[in-house]
Amino acid sequence: MIHDSLTATLAGIVGARHVLTDADLKAPFETDWTRRYHGTARLVVRPGTTTEVASVLRACTAAGAPVVPQGGNTGLVGGGVPRGGEVVLSLVRLDGIEPVDSRAAQVTVGAGVTLARLQEHAREAGLAFGVDLASRGSATIGGMISTNAGGIRVLRYGGMRAQVVGIEAVLASGGVLHRLPGLTKDNTGYDLPGLLAGSEGTLAVVTRARLRLVPRLDHRAVALLAVADVAAALALVARLRTIASLEAVEVFFREGIELVCRHAGLPLPFPADYPCYVLAEAAGRVDPLPELAAALDGATFEDSALAADRAGRDALWAYRERHTEAINAEGVPHKLDVALPLDTLQHFAEGVRARLRETVPAARAILFGHIADGNLHVNVLGLEPTDDRATDAVLRFVAELGGSISAEHGIGVAKTRWLHLTRTAEEVGAMAAIKAALDPQQVLNPGVIFG
Ligand code: MLT
Ligand code: ZN
Repeated sequence: MIHDSLTATLAGIVGARHVLTDADLKAPFETDWTRRYHGTARLVVRPGTTTEVASVLRACTAAGAPVVPQGGNTGLVGGGVPRGGEVVLSLVRLDGIEPVDSRAAQVTVGAGVTLARLQEHAREAGLAFGVDLASRGSATIGGMISTNAGGIRVLRYGGMRAQVVGIEAVLASGGVLHRLPGLTKDNTGYDLPGLLAGSEGTLAVVTRARLRLVPRLDHRAVALLAVADVAAALALVARLRTIASLEAVEVFFREGIELVCRHAGLPLPFPADYPCYVLAEAAGRVDPLPELAAALDGATFEDSALAADRAGRDALWAYRERHTEAINAEGVPHKLDVALPLDTLQHFAEGVRARLRETVPAARAILFGHIADGNLHVNVLGLEPTDDRATDAVLRFVAELGGSISAEHGIGVAKTRWLHLTRTAEEVGAMAAIKAALDPQQVLNPGVIFG
């Protein structure tokens, strides 16, 4: 149904069936995955080409209509759903994927391609993509670039920004930035792909990207180790760092594994339960199990399990990867995603629970994360969605310890109030100046990063 002139203009650009105005059709685009963030969209528009994205943005800018870009809607900080009355610009129809360029080990993909599809495409070419995360089936490449997604392999390959060799993106004006030649060396001024990675849809809308691929490593081994605490876990990280095949080192705790087991119907991995668990994965062209086992030989841990076959590895990974869904099944979580200097991590893991007990006794904290990156996900249950006391206590503690209030999820709308804790006024001012230069009418994702 055509409601107003913007709706009619957008229908003329993308076709009426790709402009959604009915409440039930808009609904899946209006609430985030955690159910904490929700807003009514003016409409949802689903362009199918970069040219259509450009025309849509030109029309929205002319109409003064704010736009929320959205990929697979797997974001965790409320940056991809409307706050109230915005146009949701869904990029999922931009799902073209070009053949892998084997000589360069690169591929050009549309913003709407899911991570799982990219992984399969690279695999078929004997290569792999360096970023992996649990929401691979839904998360899209455009959203992952816009949020500079991290995931489980950052220690080996870096985050999303490190994979982007070239980008195509549309400015609020409708102008198209087109840098897709795949030049590994291109030292000609500002690094625009690097700037757009992590800009959370506030500077431009990513439509395509040229991505770096890495060798496919088919031989894998996973170790699950029970330890006394984070300090013991970090001692294992130091040993594991010495092996070239190391791909992931994750951490989780008693309360998380109990929740996962209950939710997923899994048995505990060991006959006894322990305060802290480390999961490490190694991958290589030859079986990395001997190297992984050698690194752990003589190390201090309470119990261990090793797996090299696919089923065994998946069974161990399930204890880590099913945390997010298990927590979501318990309630609407407040998701805090922080990075700490490694020498403060033990103090933080102990202290954060104590601070939460003092500040909000009703809160229940479940921690897990990417320990080798100093990245802990602090999930707080038992609070009203608008109750910010836990967030405030945790993020202030992070700032005291010299950490970052967002390691990989971004600022979104969830953390804007606390951005100043770990970015200086000069830094925020420089970012705001870039925003003002590229999007002077504040059309793109207003309210995100800067509040
Ligand atoms: C993860 O590491 O699993 C993701 O960051 C998702 C989450 O934090 O829930
Ligand atoms: Zn994570």
